[in-house]
Amino acid sequence: QQDRAIRPLTLADYIGQKVVREQMELFIKAARARQESLDHTLIFGPPGLGKTTLANIIANEMGVSVKSTSGPVLEKAGDLAALLTNLEPGDVLFVDEIHRLSPVVEEVLYPAMEDYQLDIMIGEGPAARSIKLDLPPFTLVGATTRAGMLTNPLRDRFGIVQRLEFYEVADLTVIVTRSANILGIPIEPEGAQEIAKRSRGTPRIANRILRRVRDYAEVKGQGVITKYMADQALNMLDVDASGFDHLDRRLLLTIMDKFDGGPVGLDNLAAAISEERNTIEDVLEPYLIQQGFIMRTPRGRMVTRHAYLHFGLNIPKKMAEST
Ligand code: ADE
Repeated sequence: QQDRAIRPLTLADYIGQKVVREQMELFIKAARARQESLDHTLIFGPPGLGKTTLANIIANEMGVSVKSTSGPVLEKAGDLAALLTNLEPGDVLFVDEIHRLSPVVEEVLYPAMEDYQLDIMIGEGPAARSIKLDLPPFTLVGATTRAGMLTNPLRDRFGIVQRLEFYEVADLTVIVTRSANILGIPIEPEGAQEIAKRSRGTPRIANRILRRVRDYAEVKGQGVITKYMADQALNMLDVDASGFDHLDRRLLLTIMDKFDGGPVGLDNLAAAISEERNTIEDVLEPYLIQQGFIMRTPRGRMVTRHAYLHFGLNIPKKMAEST
């Protein structure tokens, strides 16, 4: 419910992601001045960094409406056609998880993106007809966790490609403070920073933890989120000092205990921790790689010496010698 309230609506309120913000400000300004629709925009990056938020901001800044869907929801060509023919000139069509579009739906999307042409078959067998329709100019905003999963022809049709990065602690601290203000939660700067430090560089996680720390501070304290309250609550939530949760630690410990630090193939790793490959690749790994705890090598995943140090374990001889 109040999720809507804490999502920024303008680029000016969009914290961090400086490169993305500055570029989008410029592209939007230019498109508006020419009274054109914004070029199709691809946003990629790990979950929870604000891809959907950014899509909504783009529409808001362009002064248009947004229609939202997602790759797996569009099963047939007709599902996409229905959306496309309902757009007003300049509207944003937001397609989340765009790497999961079916090939038939993708085929419909190409001419729509390139020439604002809808070209679909209706009916079957001898009665089948192809119909062509002009569409209003529109902006496709696609979001995906991994740009590498898109087909080349689809990726090539985006004029703007933005990659969201994990947030720095300073930026996340501002986001937590802003959310707390909107939700009316009393918070001290050190409390906001403690939450920011332990949120895996991810606003969605920071905002979720904020609510849980509030619960804790209201029941165990005076309702004010201090550094102490945040620390106690996060310990209860099993989030460690580096912001790793139970799953992060299980992944790291499994590679160290069962696979001797790696390299271990993704499928073996997935089986060992009973998680899906995709969860490891999209959710768990990106932050651990960015923080330098895991490496992707041609022979599989390896932990780095940081992982051993984090758990207070001895660095294996082979690693101590090579680095
Ligand atoms: N929520 C998600 N992303 C955000 C951002 N960049 N700034 C503020 N709030 C956010």
